[in-house]
Amino acid sequence: MSQEIIKIFDTTLRDGEQSPGASMNTEEKIQIAIQLEKLGVDIIEAGFAAASPGDFNAISKIAQRVNNSTVCSLARAIDSDIKSAGEAVIHAKMKRIHTFIATSPIHMQYKLKMKPDEVIRRAVRAVEYARTFVDDVEFSCEDAGRSDIGFMKEISDAVIEAGASTINLPDTVGFRLPFEIGAMVKEMSEYIKNRAIISVHNHNDLGLGVASSLESVMNGARQIECTINGLGERAGNAALEEIVMAIKTRSDVFSNFKTNINAKEIYPSSRLIANITGIEPQPNKAIVGKNAFAHESGIHQDGMLKNRKTYEIINPADIGLDMNDTLVLGKHSGRAAFKDKLSKLGFILEQKALNSSFERFKIMADKKKEIYDDDLRALVTNEMTKAPKIYELISLQLMDFSNGIPSAVVTIKKDGKEMVDAGVGEGTMDAIFKTIDRISGHEGNLMDYKVTSVSKGKDALANVTVKVAFNENEPAIIGHGLNIDTMLASARAYISALNSYLSMKGMLKKRHTNSNETV
Ligand code: KIV
Ligand code: ZN
Repeated sequence: MSQEIIKIFDTTLRDGEQSPGASMNTEEKIQIAIQLEKLGVDIIEAGFAAASPGDFNAISKIAQRVNNSTVCSLARAIDSDIKSAGEAVIHAKMKRIHTFIATSPIHMQYKLKMKPDEVIRRAVRAVEYARTFVDDVEFSCEDAGRSDIGFMKEISDAVIEAGASTINLPDTVGFRLPFEIGAMVKEMSEYIKNRAIISVHNHNDLGLGVASSLESVMNGARQIECTINGLGERAGNAALEEIVMAIKTRSDVFSNFKTNINAKEIYPSSRLIANITGIEPQPNKAIVGKNAFAHESGIHQDGMLKNRKTYEIINPADIGLDMNDTLVLGKHSGRAAFKDKLSKLGFILEQKALNSSFERFKIMADKKKEIYDDDLRALVTNEMTKAPKIYELISLQLMDFSNGIPSAVVTIKKDGKEMVDAGVGEGTMDAIFKTIDRISGHEGNLMDYKVTSVSKGKDALANVTVKVAFNENEPAIIGHGLNIDTMLASARAYISALNSYLSMKGMLKKRHTNSNETV
């Protein structure tokens, strides 16, 4: 019996990026889009083109790089948004505009301040205008979970007539229980029939996003919107890896369905997103959490030794996770062995990136006894997503601060010229960051600081993520630094934020809108 495809619409780069602290630079977004394509997602929502020139630029670059997934931009139901979205995806092989307007009484009355008739008019205009740019238009009834089903049928008729081929029913506030979402999807799909594909987009405020998405499939949804690691506004969106592995693992229940996802790319995708955003999935997170395949109790370990299936419903190798991942390379390993290992991990690097990653690997191998796949993933991701090196850290010396005055001596290079300065601070990091500010002439305001260890051991790599505002009228910028030494990693992260800021200047402005703001 032939199986129907459930389309996977990934919104990590749009809704996921709306997670507090998850904003990314253009190079990082491009690397994520390339990985999503490898993962096999059908549609990549690459961003919200009208939000800022930086968002527009990232979508447009992704549209030029991705060949096998549809590239999509979000747009509110207003002409200027749709024009930006259309222009941003213009070079994509397969392109889509996703436009939306709220349909729930509470949103229409208080947020939009519009009567239902006017909402329908706006929606129709938006879809008609979007069709002048692309053939593939998706329309979302924002807050569908709290909308009147009769009204959603009416607006769906109108937008399908205007040219929409996908109708998305988001549970924007994650309020509904799975059986309620299932009933809504059933009624809407029986009404719409094959005039359009029914899609769902479930937020996770009650922890039900994945359950509601699966229930939707059973009731007629043929597209699911989701994010890697469940990133997204507030409590996030339904997690892609959980949906895909539920459909695959319970193929007895989902026997009529399959996805185009290459499950072996799930773990690499999850690591890439965690390394770039600095947001680690909770350890007990299904599928990709650090403990998802760890068996702690003696009884479980005994069972596992006798037959893995006693306690394991998924083979970690099926999601691309190698449980014995100590690298057998060391400081004497050559470039060819290094390149070979990277290609096994799915990284194909251009010569320049390969050379610089190899140099960094050698330095790391000198200091670190055991190198794990995750160390390599973090190192290469860090190398591939770097903003142009405007400032480069040459050295960092921390002075003896037993006298209670932490101080740092920092040497930085710019345009071939080395600059050195020393400074004191309330703590060591404060001293480092203030000294960098003084040398560069750019005063940063540290909004967030996170450090995670990449793997295990006292010599584990520290992955530092900082969020720095260099100008109060512009959005804060994320920077990353990776080193065995946490302070060195912090200095690198701060300089990487500065480099990102300077390389994006002109394209930055505080987002004048986000997807959930009033039309
Ligand atoms: O949650 C939501 O309603 C959205 C829409 C813009 C699809 O993200
Ligand atoms: Zn959403």
